[in-house]
Amino acid sequence: MNIRQARLEDLPGMQACNLHNLPENYTMKYYLYHALTWPSLSYVAEEHGRVVGYILAKMEEPEEHDGPEKSEQVPHGHVTSISVLRSYRRLGLAKKLMLQSQEAMSTIYRAAYVSLHVRKSNRAALSLYRDTLGFTVKSIEEKYYADGEDAYAMQLTFNQS
Ligand code: ACO
Repeated sequence: MNIRQARLEDLPGMQACNLHNLPENYTMKYYLYHALTWPSLSYVAEEHGRVVGYILAKMEEPEEHDGPEKSEQVPHGHVTSISVLRSYRRLGLAKKLMLQSQEAMSTIYRAAYVSLHVRKSNRAALSLYRDTLGFTVKSIEEKYYADGEDAYAMQLTFNQS
């Protein structure tokens, strides 16, 4: 098993893995946007050339033309999507993918924290974020998902040296 930075040729494999695992799916243009804009934030777990897990992540940065509310925000990372194929779960792959991306957010982009959304019913992912990685729930976003389920908005603050 090999965990490495995602390359452009991995994007179809990442999209296939996402389609297997999650109802939240994205256009190839959106994968490309992540990979071209923040190439060091997305990773794949690969076996025999097949993507068996991925993390797709980005930076949220206040822009100059944004109003005062937005400019008060600090740069932070955001996990758009992470998943691992069923037969490769509980091997520590998601934890490794998260840690690789978090390290790059913190050291390369000086992110203050990382955020993500997760379904309230997603026990496996909640346990990964809260118990294994130390995220906390910041708020509940009602009816965040297309099917009406609420999301926990979670964050993890980085210790910056
Ligand atoms: N039940 C309880 N705790 C779990 C479970 C589970 N099924 N899976 C993982 N955990 C927790 C455990 O604490 C685990 O540590 P342990 O195995 O030592 O007990 C820890 O998370 C680390 O687990 P990993 O092996 O790294 O996790 P895995 O590689 O299996 O991937 C994931 C976890 C990504 C949630 C996987 O179950 C999956 O792909 N699920 C479907 C897609 C999904 O829900 N993705 C997250 C959506 S939210 C978002 O993308 C921002």
